[in-house]
Amino acid sequence: MRIGVLTSGGDAPGMNAAIRAVVRTAIYYGASVVGIRKGYQGLIEGLVIPMDASSVGGIINRGGTILETARAEDFKRKEVQKKAVENIKKHDIDALIVIGGNGTLKGAIALYKEWGIPLNQVASTIDNDLPGTDVTIGFDTAVNTALEIIDRIRDTAVSFERIFVVEVMGRDRGFIALEVGIAGGAEFIIIPEVPFEFGKLIKKIEDGKRRGKRSCVIVLAEGAGRAEELARRIKEETGLETRGSVVGYAQRGGSPTAKDRILATMLGARAVRLCMEEKFGYLVGIKGGEISATHFNELEGVEKKIDLTLLEIAGILSI
Ligand code: F6P
Repeated sequence: MRIGVLTSGGDAPGMNAAIRAVVRTAIYYGASVVGIRKGYQGLIEGLVIPMDASSVGGIINRGGTILETARAEDFKRKEVQKKAVENIKKHDIDALIVIGGNGTLKGAIALYKEWGIPLNQVASTIDNDLPGTDVTIGFDTAVNTALEIIDRIRDTAVSFERIFVVEVMGRDRGFIALEVGIAGGAEFIIIPEVPFEFGKLIKKIEDGKRRGKRSCVIVLAEGAGRAEELARRIKEETGLETRGSVVGYAQRGGSPTAKDRILATMLGARAVRLCMEEKFGYLVGIKGGEISATHFNELEGVEKKIDLTLLEIAGILSI
C-alpha cells in the first residue's frame, strides 16, 4: 500500500509529530509513504514528495508543519477536486491521511464521498472546534502559549492597576478563550457561544475596583469581538485605564507540549492502522480518554458542544 499524507488549513503544534507517526507506522506495516506539500493545494498541483523514516527525524519537537499548509479556498469546486483526484491516481496513492481541522474535514468528506477516495483524517487544529473528538492536536499548546502571555500581561496590569482585554484565537468558537480564561484566573471571559452583556462586565469591573482589586484581565475570543474596541468602550464607560492586547499568531506556533506530541503520535498511528485494515472515511480523535474513529456520516452538520459549566465556574471564582 502507498499512503499519501498531507496537512491542511491552519498549522498546529503537533502536526509534525503526527506526520512522523504516520510515516514510521506505515513503514513498520510494510507500506510506503509520500508527502503532499501545501495541503489540498498541493494535491491540485501535484506537489508529491517521497518520504522515508529519516525524512521525519528530528521533527517531533517542532511547531508548524514540514509538509507546509495552505487554505485551498477553491477546493469547494468540483473541477478543482477533479484535478486533485487525478493527481492521487497519477501518483498511485492507495490511501490518503489528511491532518487538519474543520475546513480539512469538508474537503475530506468531498473526496471520500463524492470521488470515492480512500482516506482518513487526523484531528488537528488549535481551535478545538472539530466534532467527533474531545481534543484536537495543537489545542493544548495554543492554550499554554496564550496562558503564558496572559500571565505576563497580569504582571503589568497589577503594576499599573490597569484593565486589560486580551484577545485570543479560536475562529468563531470559544474553546481557547474558555480554557485560557479559567487557567489565567480571568475576571471575565467573553465567548461567541454566550451573548455578551456589557452592563454585567462594567458592574464586575466597578465592584472589583470598590473591593480594592488591582487588576482586571478580560479574555475575549476573537469570534466575539476586538480587544481594542472593547477596551475603548470600557474606558469610556468607567474612566479607568484600559488596554487591548491581541495574542495573535504566536499561539499557533512553537514547540508542542508533551500532551500534543503524545496525542499526535497516537492519532497518526491509529490513522495508519485504519488504512491497513482498509477502513476509510473516519476522523481519528480522542473521546473520554480513548483513541476514537468516528465515521464522517456521524459528523456532517454536527457542531461541537462547548462545556458552559466551565464558564459558570469561572464566573463564580473570579470575584
Ligand atoms: O484555525 C486556526 C486559526 O489560527 C484560527 O484561530 C484563526 O481564526 C485563523 O486560523 C486565522 O487564519 P489565517 O491563518 O488564514 O489568517
